[in-house]
Amino acid sequence: MSGLEGALAHARARKDEHLAEFRAFVQIPSISTLAAHQEDMHRAAAWLEGQLKALGLPDVRILPTQGHPVVYGASEPVPGAPTVLVYGHYDVQPVDPLNEWESDPFGAEIRGDYIYGRGVSDMKAQILAQIKAMDAVAAQGGIPVNLKYLIEGEEEIGSPHLGAFIEAHKDLLACDVVLNCDGGIHSKDVPAITYSLRGLAYFELEIETAKKDLHSGLFGGSVRNPLHVIAEVVAGLHDGSGKVTVPGFYDKVRPLDEEERELLARLPYSDEHWCEMAGVRALHGEAGYTTVERVGARPTLEANGLWGGFIGEGAKTVLPARAYAKISARLVPDQDARDVKGQLEAYLARVVPADVTWRLHEHSTGPGAVMSRDSIFMESARKSLAEVFGQEPLFKREGGSIPVVGLLQEALGVDSVMLGFELPDDGIHGPNERHYVPNYFRGIETYIRYLYHVAGSAQ
Ligand code: BES
Ligand code: MN
Repeated sequence: MSGLEGALAHARARKDEHLAEFRAFVQIPSISTLAAHQEDMHRAAAWLEGQLKALGLPDVRILPTQGHPVVYGASEPVPGAPTVLVYGHYDVQPVDPLNEWESDPFGAEIRGDYIYGRGVSDMKAQILAQIKAMDAVAAQGGIPVNLKYLIEGEEEIGSPHLGAFIEAHKDLLACDVVLNCDGGIHSKDVPAITYSLRGLAYFELEIETAKKDLHSGLFGGSVRNPLHVIAEVVAGLHDGSGKVTVPGFYDKVRPLDEEERELLARLPYSDEHWCEMAGVRALHGEAGYTTVERVGARPTLEANGLWGGFIGEGAKTVLPARAYAKISARLVPDQDARDVKGQLEAYLARVVPADVTWRLHEHSTGPGAVMSRDSIFMESARKSLAEVFGQEPLFKREGGSIPVVGLLQEALGVDSVMLGFELPDDGIHGPNERHYVPNYFRGIETYIRYLYHVAGSAQ
């Protein structure tokens, strides 16, 4: 039996254990953004440390960052073999709205072909599938490449400390390719490889018109209302054709060439299906682009939250002193988050009246990325997916963001191969997040095959 066949057999004989461990991982509520889950973050990191140690890796460490720790691991060196850095994140998003869940978000309940829980699809299934794949490979007499792990705990809050961590550990992270397990495929039986991601720049805006809240009868009509100011600021971000009005916003956007537009137009996609998945009656976006282009290759600038004044039960006649907005941009190459911040500041300086104070606070920023579609590492991913799914993968641009991809391109000059199994209708970040269980097992097989293809020793 070849190493590949031996590894596949090894994994297939352990499906029950692999599923049980997946459930145990999901049951750790590792919500990175909530301080109350600090302890759970450490539990999740320690759980993964145990998994990497069980793989037999000689070097496994929990490394501190300015925020949640990174789990790092490295296999026995194999001189002359390629170095593959596996990326994953162990943090998950909050669970609200809790009352819309049909089962405990951290219960990892299995119903039919799906497992339900926060983080099942984004992305605990995949990082564990990759580890289980390596367990099967290691059992065939050792891992034939230089394998490293970078598993962070802050992806879901924009990886605010990962850039500094990478800068400080360039030698430790040096590699030929990144295997990023946080990607998605097209639909449950149709594989895809993501070759582009959008970046994200996230801000909070505060508008202050007075020192304190005022009686809306005594003062109303004589002073400015910050809610009206912020509503105008937000409404003014776009024109009637869906274009962002902020000067300079599109200046550095890398245009799509005709060849790629044609490639994207061939993806099996329909506006009706997109409406259905989104639960909307009509689509809306930047004029002149298709939905696939709008999501994959065009930037956005959107309000994610807007509040101020009285929002409790009943009525209160108040003229608030302050209003707030969370505003974020999805960035595409070659936009720079710092430029966008400067453009937003210039826009605010122009549109906010001079007697009103505004403050723009930056939450996190991360660049977008486009990867080469024809490296040997991409070719290995294509082959692995085709073998497991019995059909050729599509190549797609992802609208979501994974900051590490651009950060590693910038710091180490390496591309990421996105190999993950999230689905557009898995409800990631929403209630009843789910993962298609058969794809957890297909994932293990794909990662096994990928490793042998990269090592050049698949038989
Ligand atoms: N895994 C997702 C991104 C994703 C989703 C990739 C579906 C491929 C298919 C990732 O964890 C995510 O949600 N990222 C955040 C990042 C942000 C907080 C910087 C996002 O895009 O909002
Ligand atoms: Mn996510």
